[in-house]
Amino acid sequence: MARKAVVPAAGLGTRFLPVTKAVPKEMLPILDRPCIEYVLAEAVEAGFTDIVLVTSRGKSAMEDYFDRSPALEATLEAAGKSALLGEVRRVARLATIVTVRQQEQKGLGHAVLAAAAAIGDEPFAVLLGDDIIDARVPAIGQLARVHAETGGAVVALLDVPRADTRKYGICAGEMESPNRMRVHAMVEKPAPEVAPSTLSIVGRYILPGEIFEILRNTPPGAGGEIQLTDALAVLAARGEVRGVLFEGRRFDTGNPLGLLEATLHEALRRPEYAEGARALIARYA
Ligand code: G1P
Repeated sequence: MARKAVVPAAGLGTRFLPVTKAVPKEMLPILDRPCIEYVLAEAVEAGFTDIVLVTSRGKSAMEDYFDRSPALEATLEAAGKSALLGEVRRVARLATIVTVRQQEQKGLGHAVLAAAAAIGDEPFAVLLGDDIIDARVPAIGQLARVHAETGGAVVALLDVPRADTRKYGICAGEMESPNRMRVHAMVEKPAPEVAPSTLSIVGRYILPGEIFEILRNTPPGAGGEIQLTDALAVLAARGEVRGVLFEGRRFDTGNPLGLLEATLHEALRRPEYAEGARALIARYA
């Protein structure tokens, strides 16, 4: 079974400017934890314990966050703050992380390709930090189950309003079961009038090692970027891509209101915040 996961985290975070001038968007918090932690926790829960984090200039806060912090730990220990100490250590033990740098921002496909040497030839997972999914079974685990059955590539699908197709990779194909599609064609960010369906890719993928060779030969596509969707379309034409309508609730934390919604959802889910959050919501409703 695939054990390694790539988490692209090199983007500029333009939808969050100006805060992302100085703070990586992946480090923006949902309550007391950065977005990136929720994504890594999903991967780890599904058994993807080796994480390849694709970063870029100005993103070192992420590496610090997942590292040990001896001085902070000593201070908390001396002050007898054992619960906080436990939290700080828990984060540093969450996963085995290696980082690679994407030296130029040339698109998602290019970011995934930056992880090639760290992954090798085996199938691997990709989780995008802008999509946070609350699910009983981790969404990437739902995809891994399908992959174990079918091989090839597997992507997470969500039905979106037609007006939104321009924001996503869109899949067309035939349903093999109520929640599984054999994908025949994929197109990145089509206009609503030409989108072949409204089934869009959200940021979870299981990919075969072969994808790297395809990415090396993929020319720039939508937005002048090297698109992962275009590389996957090569596999889709061969019938080697499945789409899964996963069970779970997805939040787009790549924009401020989406992050606010994810924060409210998480606050209502966490016992220590739920009551206070309900009172706040009532006050502003
Ligand atoms: C990327 C992918 C797109 C996918 C989306 C999911 O786009 O290129 O195919 O639908 O993530 O969030 P981005 O949001 O990085 O522009």
